[in-house]
Amino acid sequence: MTKIHAKFDGVGKSLPEKILTNADLEKMVDTTDEWITTRTGVKERRILSPGESINDHCVKAAKEAIEKSKCDPDEIDLIINCTFTSDYVLPSGACIIQDKLGFSRNVPAFDLAAACSGFMYGVETANSFLSTGNYRKILVIGADALSPFTNWKDRASCVLFGDGAGAAVLSGTEDPNEGVLSSDLGAAGKHNRILMVEGGGSAMHGTALMNDASLESKYYITMEGNTLFKIVTRIVADSVNRAIEKAGLTAAEIDFLVPHQANTRIIDFVAEKLGLPREKCAVTIHKYGNNSAASIPIALYDSLEEGKIKKGDKIVMTGFGGGLTYASLVVKWG
Ligand code: UT7
Repeated sequence: MTKIHAKFDGVGKSLPEKILTNADLEKMVDTTDEWITTRTGVKERRILSPGESINDHCVKAAKEAIEKSKCDPDEIDLIINCTFTSDYVLPSGACIIQDKLGFSRNVPAFDLAAACSGFMYGVETANSFLSTGNYRKILVIGADALSPFTNWKDRASCVLFGDGAGAAVLSGTEDPNEGVLSSDLGAAGKHNRILMVEGGGSAMHGTALMNDASLESKYYITMEGNTLFKIVTRIVADSVNRAIEKAGLTAAEIDFLVPHQANTRIIDFVAEKLGLPREKCAVTIHKYGNNSAASIPIALYDSLEEGKIKKGDKIVMTGFGGGLTYASLVVKWG
């Protein structure tokens, strides 16, 4: 029996209009455009304005993905919204997105929290649902609003992040010549404190902040950047290798890389391991920064728009982030 697996039918994106440049940051913290550019690759990032909703960007990206996939919204059987920064703690962003998309059916909808690997975890989850044959089309969204969780006094982290949403409609196929060929997912939970937002969960609720203003910094992202850098370069390279091996391919057969946009030095490291030149690699970090779960679908979107990905290309997508989660997929573009 031929195995059903996921293929990409359409991709969408939505970003806030407000741009924060390195020059703007030079006025806010002790940093320079030169440091940010050479150490990270970021030149500018998109930031939500007060009152602007990340869920609304998810809806916009989803609408475009549905339109591009040429399906009727009511054909979607499931919504997976990959994020850790939805508008509210409760309800999930996925339920609000379902409502705003105006679906006539009560299709299941849930949020999936795997930080910057979120979209990869979401695609693999969709792949598994589709393989049952009980679901035919699944909307996977990768979105994060990191600016509300950014400590704008911490130069080590505030120069990195941005906000945005990307989305894809996936459908099941039995054609072995397209779609998800293999996956490698993991979580090195022992590193869970390297990248975190300690406050705002049930352990340190908002009322704690009202009673003790010294806790304020706990409600922002804290990151041991250099430690994380050293761990992820090793973990990601290994994960990519395992995914390629599981697909029955060699690195030399990979045509294009869509990596998480955390740092150009990490992107270049992975590309070099695959023997791919920069032009065979999606790079959007200079214009959007690191927008967590949104970075891979947005980088995929831009590469498709720029005609960099061709039918039949074998693509590696790889994400890594808080948790410490990581995930790599090999996809044959149909
Ligand atoms: O998306 C989730 C996954 N994220 C990642 O994987 C991120 C991984 N980490 C990184 O990308 C890099 O570690 C960073 C970009 C975060 C930092 O780069 P680094 O080369 O590891 O810098 P560092 O933290 O080792 O800091 C080097 C120096 C320090 O100064 P001293 O101690 O050498 O005098 C920092 O204080 O750079 C200083 N520094 C800055 N200087 C100017 C740190 N941030 C800044 C800044 N501007 N914004």
